Amino acid sequence: MDINKVMVIGAGQMGSGIAQVHAMAGMKVVLHDLKEEFVQRGLAQMTKNLSRQVEKGRMREAEKTEILDRIQLSTDLTHASDVDIVIEAAVENMRIKSELFAKLDQIAPAHAILATNTSSLPITEIAAATNRPEKVIGMHFMNPVPVMKLVEVIRGLATADEVYEVVEALSRKLQKIPVEVNDFPGFVSNRILMPMINEAIFTVYEGVATPEAVDEVMKLGMNHPMGPLTLADFIGLDTCLYIMETLHEGFGDDKYRPCPLLRKYVKAGWLGKKSGRGFYQYE
Ligand code: CAA
Repeated sequence: MDINKVMVIGAGQMGSGIAQVHAMAGMKVVLHDLKEEFVQRGLAQMTKNLSRQVEKGRMREAEKTEILDRIQLSTDLTHASDVDIVIEAAVENMRIKSELFAKLDQIAPAHAILATNTSSLPITEIAAATNRPEKVIGMHFMNPVPVMKLVEVIRGLATADEVYEVVEALSRKLQKIPVEVNDFPGFVSNRILMPMINEAIFTVYEGVATPEAVDEVMKLGMNHPMGPLTLADFIGLDTCLYIMETLHEGFGDDKYRPCPLLRKYVKAGWLGKKSGRGFYQYE
């Protein structure tokens, strides 16, 4: 099956990045969100990223225009009626995702794949909200989407082999590397990344070292491009807490207990870069 038209639900940091890479690979894209201002913000983000490519001499202005012309903005879910795949990148809330997938199942054509960019919620449970669980799959992109090579492709319990193969080929068309994983809490990426971030927060909480020192150790000693606390601020501390809670609940093991300092920051509204303050302060 060829993917010619894609709908991306959610025009935030992840959704706009996902829309951009599909349009760059020549596909028609519908970028959908609840409000016009959200989709306009997504468009502004994509325009900024593409303009940077033009400034750096890696893309012609005409190419940028062609890419942006392939993107249609939407606040109406019925635009899913003629797409080949929907990639959902909305908020991490099971009730909202289940309702959305039930609606998409009604609107999208019978052949369409329904994918989710969830970072930790069970694909199998999202699929159960539809009458096409064999066509539901996880397609987990990494932030920043235009830069990061990985797509973690997650098979739900009922995901059909052909659907996996289409998504694998699509990921390669986006110049990304798909990696196949099964549906368990946090998949592979966040099962390993988030406990490391949580442990870095415990290290600060217990007074072992400052955030700056923890980040220096991991950057200079382990060659990580960002220290774990800078990365936590970049991902969003609310997202980090949510993923730790999903791991804690899903495995029932105390080793996934979120650090009280992480809870405190989230309660204070210190959500990282997006709110201007997390482990570090941003202007
Ligand atoms: N959007 C688009 N492009 C971006 C970008 C963004 N938000 N941020 C950086 N870039 C681009 C820059 O434009 C630059 O490209 P050029 O060289 O072509 O100009 C390139 O990335 C490198 O940027 P910088 O030189 O400014 O900075 P850097 O070398 O530190 O790289 C980084 C930035 C790629 C973000 C790097 O720090 C990095 O890899 N950090 C770790 C990112 C990571 O771990 N992501 C996964 C998070 S977990 C996740 O996403 C999943 C989840 O479920 C939580």
